[in-house]
Amino acid sequence: MYKYVIEGGRPLQGIVSASGAKNAALPLLFATLLTDEDCVLTRVPDLRDIKTTFQLLEYLGKRVSYSRGRAVVRAGKKLSTAAPYELVKQMRASVLVAGPLLARFKRASVPLPGGCAIGLRPIDIHLKGFACLGAAVSTHAGNVVLEAEKLSGCRFKMGFPSVGATQNMAMCAVLTPGVTVIENIALEPENDDLYDFLRKMGARIERSGNKLTVRGVEKLRGARHAVIADRIEAGTYLIAGAATRGQVTVEDCNPEHLRAVLEKLSETGADVTETENSITVDMRDRIPKAADIKTLPYPGFPTDLQAPWMAYMTVAEGKSIIAEDIFENRFMHAPELARMGAMIAVDGKNALVEGAPELSGASVMASDLRGGAALCVAGLAACGKSEVLRVYHIERGYEKIHKKLSALGAKVRRVKY
Ligand code: EPZ
Repeated sequence: MYKYVIEGGRPLQGIVSASGAKNAALPLLFATLLTDEDCVLTRVPDLRDIKTTFQLLEYLGKRVSYSRGRAVVRAGKKLSTAAPYELVKQMRASVLVAGPLLARFKRASVPLPGGCAIGLRPIDIHLKGFACLGAAVSTHAGNVVLEAEKLSGCRFKMGFPSVGATQNMAMCAVLTPGVTVIENIALEPENDDLYDFLRKMGARIERSGNKLTVRGVEKLRGARHAVIADRIEAGTYLIAGAATRGQVTVEDCNPEHLRAVLEKLSETGADVTETENSITVDMRDRIPKAADIKTLPYPGFPTDLQAPWMAYMTVAEGKSIIAEDIFENRFMHAPELARMGAMIAVDGKNALVEGAPELSGASVMASDLRGGAALCVAGLAACGKSEVLRVYHIERGYEKIHKKLSALGAKVRRVKY
């Protein structure tokens, strides 16, 4: 295993480029199951979850090649409709094979993804959507089995705007005869990126506000597509810049996708400027002020930046309340931050943070992707040396993070232990 050894207390200064979005690349890769023709995706980040997805596509029968951010997915042997537990248990997003396989073969068998560190992660909304399209849903030996004599368009209203359930149902509806209308969909930019790719493949899919209308087609063709920028990665570096009282510019990103976060950064006293495809946060020579956040579905403050934001608030002046309304167990970074001197009181969905003049470096352990990123933010802001253990969690979602942080002037080493 590897750890990051961080010499903290140095303001970050400089420019980094955002990678392609993990949470866009995953559904895009699964959408290639909808056709036997070649698909080319560029700006695919080099991450563990992406490699797991390649393995899953190859297990199902695709041939995948990948180099310098460019993934080519081609037909291989006849596609299997059953995903293996070994791979699904590593990555919840594997459940996204269900929509495409059900659409093409009227059958899909996917191991129940199981929970993960941040919550139970049920898939009831996914399954209700498939049932609405005409699939019979059953469970057998820990697998969800979806089967349909025939699928037909339907009208479905989501009980909660689930990102994954929206993606899964959209990928099934595009090859389902008739018109499907899905209401109360998740509005995350990664979903719009998926619709763009599906349209390039020949799908008839239009979003109007939080309603998606899909007219099923017979067949979809291969297509080429560039993955949108990773707004969560970009937000993490901007928050790290503010927490270390430095000046960080993230290029090749979309400020529109981070509106709620930029407003909160300004509220803490940061000077936030932007161009069409870059954002700069400047906190030099000033002390950040505390600002409350409440995580919400897009365009609200993203739950994936709640942990990095908490790390930032531990060194801001004053008290802040952090309300996590999306996941039920997403404060695991709090006790680790406390080891660095952070003052955090967790009460159910809320955490009360009292900013400290400074944190002191310590050895801390990552337990999930974004919590691990929060520990890096805290280590960068803290005085002295920190060690962040189990960085494999972090490297699921942050491409070359230790190199990008070093490019911003951080003293960080990736060490085997
Ligand atoms: C996606 O997960 C992201 N993952 C998550 O990012 C992100 O935190 C989440 O959306 C919310 O923005 C990917 O895109 C691969 P949801 P997803 O379905 O689709 C409940 C990261 O750090 N729910 O919108 O699983 C669920 O339990 C990851 O990159 C149901 O109850 O999120 C949760 O409380 C972590 N039933 C809430 O909805 C369902 O059928 C949001 O889940 C589905 C979801």
